[in-house]
Amino acid sequence: MNWNDKFSLDAKAIQASEIRELLKILEDPSILSFAGGIPDPALFPMEEVARIRDRLEQNSAINRQSMQYSQTEGYQPLRNWVAKKFSEPNLGLTADNILITNGAQQSLTLLASAFIDAGTPIGVANPTYLGALQVFGTRRPNYISIETDEHGLIVESVKQAFEAGIKLLYTIPDFQNPGGMTIPEDRRVQIIKLAHEFDVIILEDTAYRELYYDIAPPPSFLTLESQYISANQWHNKGLVIQLGTASKTLMPALRVGWTIAPRVILDKLVLLKQANDLHSSTLNQIITYELSANLLEDHIEKLRSVYGKRRDALVDALHQYLPNCASFNQPKGGMFVWLTLPETLDARVLLEKALSVEKIAFVPGAAFFANGGGENTLRLSFTTCNEEDIRDGMRRLSSLIQQEFLQLAP
Ligand SMILES: Cc1ncc(COP(=O)(O)O)c(C=O)c1O
Repeated sequence: MNWNDKFSLDAKAIQASEIRELLKILEDPSILSFAGGIPDPALFPMEEVARIRDRLEQNSAINRQSMQYSQTEGYQPLRNWVAKKFSEPNLGLTADNILITNGAQQSLTLLASAFIDAGTPIGVANPTYLGALQVFGTRRPNYISIETDEHGLIVESVKQAFEAGIKLLYTIPDFQNPGGMTIPEDRRVQIIKLAHEFDVIILEDTAYRELYYDIAPPPSFLTLESQYISANQWHNKGLVIQLGTASKTLMPALRVGWTIAPRVILDKLVLLKQANDLHSSTLNQIITYELSANLLEDHIEKLRSVYGKRRDALVDALHQYLPNCASFNQPKGGMFVWLTLPETLDARVLLEKALSVEKIAFVPGAAFFANGGGENTLRLSFTTCNEEDIRDGMRRLSSLIQQEFLQLAP
């Protein structure tokens, strides 16, 4: 039976994610992994989760509610909390602007169904989050790649994409996955002005926004747009839709994220989610709400302190060991350092050697480019290794890069 003939066009379009495939081999504990962009499970607030569950058990009404079907829009206290937290400075968000989703990934899925048809031109950064390319890819869009530098999206390249007629721009403005870049405020303002000139939707993915290790990132696209067109007008003609998640600050297995959008868009997303899965887990939303209301800020401070030191360890080690033929960015937050190898080196080939010779893993960069390229780039994540392993790993990886470079030198 040739099943390929039977699959839908959408199913045929879906590609295996290189990272998910890679994560499978990382179950081998002898591998030092800089691959997955995942939080350190040792930092999960497990005791607080146990306390929340105890409290639930003592309150049989909420305990039963937590196991019941619930409304598609999401658990009301959690929606209120999100609306309040992101309403700064005077956007006047209410729960009506918030849809709780199964992680930011489901927000992307719903937004893709809402806005992308086969052939729809959409703008994505070069490089960008692989999971977004995977979900957008199922809709078979026409990707227009937008160039980046160490400050993220280059405004001129955004303008060209707008002139080429893109319908939406997907961007991760803070500590980008995979590149680690943060877009400065003046670029954000220029991009918002252009979006209004060309009528282009901006999907702002804030997955890493809270994880800053030096200073807070510039105001979000959402905040800046509400200042540009006025908060009142945002509710009618706002083009910025913002996605957030509890995965990076609390725990990914909660599968809780949210979409913030003008009501007219949110109504459509609610219907799409209803058709998709009725609602997100009631229990997980209650746990997320309790954690967010009671401990989130302190917990994030702890993450900033631990991850910040790991970021420093990785950056210092690269300064010390990385040969001159390669270069890297210095992220101010998030989980990733982006490394550019000499043109002659292919990061996929380097990965094979790194795994077999040094038992070190990372993610080759090419998968993050919608229209090809980036073969000589790679992503290093610093969140799950301790500082000593990070220094040791970077010393060994750097030496492997040097050897490979010399071997391929003409
Ligand atoms: C930029 C970005 N957006 C969205 C996601 C998906 O996150 P979630 O666990 O909330 O679905 C990730 C996960 O790595 C990510 O890096």
